[in-house]
Amino acid sequence: MELAYMAELPKEEFWERRTRVFAQMQPNSALLLFSEIEKRRNNDCTYPFRQDSYFWYLTGFNEPNAALLLLKTEQAEKAIIFLRPRNPLLETWNGRRLGVERAPQQLNVNEAYSIEEFATVLPKILKNLTALYHVPEIHTWGDKLVTESAVSFSETLDWRPMLNEMRLIKSPNEIRLMQQAGQITALGHIKAMQTTRPNRFEYEIESDILHEFNRHCARFPSYNSIVAGGNNACILHYTENDRPLNDGDLVLIDAGCEFDMYAGDITRTFPVNGKFNQPQREIYELVLKAQKRAIELLVPGNSIKQANDEVIRIKTQGLVDLGILKGDVDTLIEQQAYRQFYMHGLGHWLGLDVHDVGSYGQDKQRILEIGMVITVEPGIYISEDADVPEQYKGIGVRIEDNLLMTEYGNKILTAAAPKEIADIENLMNF
Ligand code: GLY
Ligand code: MN
Ligand code: MN
Repeated sequence: MELAYMAELPKEEFWERRTRVFAQMQPNSALLLFSEIEKRRNNDCTYPFRQDSYFWYLTGFNEPNAALLLLKTEQAEKAIIFLRPRNPLLETWNGRRLGVERAPQQLNVNEAYSIEEFATVLPKILKNLTALYHVPEIHTWGDKLVTESAVSFSETLDWRPMLNEMRLIKSPNEIRLMQQAGQITALGHIKAMQTTRPNRFEYEIESDILHEFNRHCARFPSYNSIVAGGNNACILHYTENDRPLNDGDLVLIDAGCEFDMYAGDITRTFPVNGKFNQPQREIYELVLKAQKRAIELLVPGNSIKQANDEVIRIKTQGLVDLGILKGDVDTLIEQQAYRQFYMHGLGHWLGLDVHDVGSYGQDKQRILEIGMVITVEPGIYISEDADVPEQYKGIGVRIEDNLLMTEYGNKILTAAAPKEIADIENLMNF
């Protein structure tokens, strides 16, 4: 499957989001957001830069050391950006900067200032306002600037409830990018199925996946990839990826690309040698059955909790049928006996962040709405040390897809990644 590169979000979308924020802000208030800064990896080397998702959401500006101020007075609504000034010498060494002069036109904002002037300019802009929306302790470099500016307010408000709710419902343009992220992520998993062989190292498969993402214009993964052979699958956030893959084991791969800042998040589990053995097949089919039922239930009008309750029932019944759990299913569910083998949630919001923002409601009982994107990722993890029949020890399976809530139910954004045993075995037929 070849994918054409699709352009980034139109500039108007960032402006339109800010308009919606203005509409929710109190009169005579300002809202302050800071960008990420570059993070030191070692000595003078940095990690690849990734913009703060909130800052990106309202600016579409991908430089470090910047701030956005939204100002709402009786006279006007103004978007003001603070950013690094042009500097030919530093730009020669470290890369281009947009600069103050070009920023208003390029970012569609009313005013721009050097970030170096922040502490002196801020008090002048904010005088006579009554409230400031600011969330401290996200960016300490920004908190320091606010302290230096010595501004004080009768009321400090939290912008997260407002922005989180907005980010939770995806626009048509965001959906387009998330569909692309889902498809490219699926291509990475197909590639992994095609290149996995006994004795290859986990990190070799990781690099095949990343290369596939890159070939399709997704430069970075949306989180650190998990390539977990055999019992490593029972470590939920295993990212060492430094062991050889063993003939006869499964490999669990949880990897997603980031496409124009939006995350894909797929897990597939398949046999290193291309053929499931009987116990692997039994556990896999159980997880798949639970996942398919969850997908039926994860539609607008239902909650994640409703689907997870069903998943817990299916898994508990299945584990009893296989002799892994013993006892009455209802009692085992009450005792949460499944938690030894299923110790995480069914899914999470997905968007600019892989674990995206937004309230889940108590016990994940929030009702799903059109435009939300969630993951569905049941798993069963039976560690080598578990007190279970020998043949199931060291088997860890998770199957994860991404669902868009639509007027017709849901759309699986990641359907291109095979998950039926026959399809996986056909693809891996080497
Ligand atoms: N990849 C992280 C998660 O599935 O939640
Ligand atoms: Mn995942
Ligand atoms: Mn996930």
